[in-house]
Amino acid sequence: MSSSSLNAAGDDPSASQSGSLERLRTERDVDLAKVDLTFEGFRALAQNPHLTANERIGFPETYRNGFEEAILRDIAAKLPALLGTNATIVDIGPGCAGLPHRLIDLCRERNHRLFLVDSAEMLAQLPDVADVTVKIPGAFPAIRDSIRDTVGRADVVLCYSVFHYVYVEGNPFTFLDSIVELLADGGRALIGDIPNISKRRRFFASETGRRFHKAFTRTETEPDVQYNEPNPGKIDDAVLMGLIQRAQAAGADAYLMPQAPDLPMANRREDLLIMKA
Ligand SMILES: C[S@@+](CC[C@H](N)C(=O)[O-])C[C@H]1O[C@@H](n2cnc3c(N)ncnc32)[C@H](O)[C@@H]1O
Repeated sequence: MSSSSLNAAGDDPSASQSGSLERLRTERDVDLAKVDLTFEGFRALAQNPHLTANERIGFPETYRNGFEEAILRDIAAKLPALLGTNATIVDIGPGCAGLPHRLIDLCRERNHRLFLVDSAEMLAQLPDVADVTVKIPGAFPAIRDSIRDTVGRADVVLCYSVFHYVYVEGNPFTFLDSIVELLADGGRALIGDIPNISKRRRFFASETGRRFHKAFTRTETEPDVQYNEPNPGKIDDAVLMGLIQRAQAAGADAYLMPQAPDLPMANRREDLLIMKA
């Protein structure tokens, strides 16, 4: 599967045809399921004047609008240094919607230094806050050396709703290794909001998942759950277990964590927490 068949929900558009997903068209009828969501594709979305901020990061409004506080709360519960003071924070792939704006506010209140790594086009849509934000344009991990030069070591690395694009485009282990390398002793990284096709299958094969599907689609159809077939480009349990082992081999502890149940995609997404002693 090419990255073009991924949307920001990380779901397969064929599933949306079967009715188990929300519509992915924007108000201006841009079909987000058909947008090539690579680093370059996001760069183009960032410059599209007809899209809302959520749409520029590949999300239909309904996936994100009004959920930002709950998402940040869930992130901070896993990255408690965010609620401390004077920490060095790196956000890889902040995009330009509500979440980074809230994170910038939090960093301002708590005297954190926040390094934002994304395309220049995305970063241009975020405010520059003196003594708080530092923007580093470019794709991670390609620019990891210049990040290390600028940041040194980080207390917190956040990479939210980004990994599934990197997984299709680049080497996920190089990405993970580069994040572990960035961490200071005692630091934590959250590679969050990862769509896990195995979790999705488990959910939609359950009675709860079937009920969810029927209520969501307002039909009596059953969700389409396929086993024993290749899923190129999709992240499953095996990929996530591999990432855990890789991080642990690099000397960090790694845990797969659920999202808070009030998050919009908690039934099919997971967070990978990496902790350096
Ligand atoms: C779905 S958006 C998520 C934005 C934000 N983290 C959030 O959850 O609101 C994905 C973002 O990751 C950025 N991105 C994709 N690949 C990247 C990479 N290799 N390095 C840095 N940013 C990347 C895109 O430009 C886009 O802004």
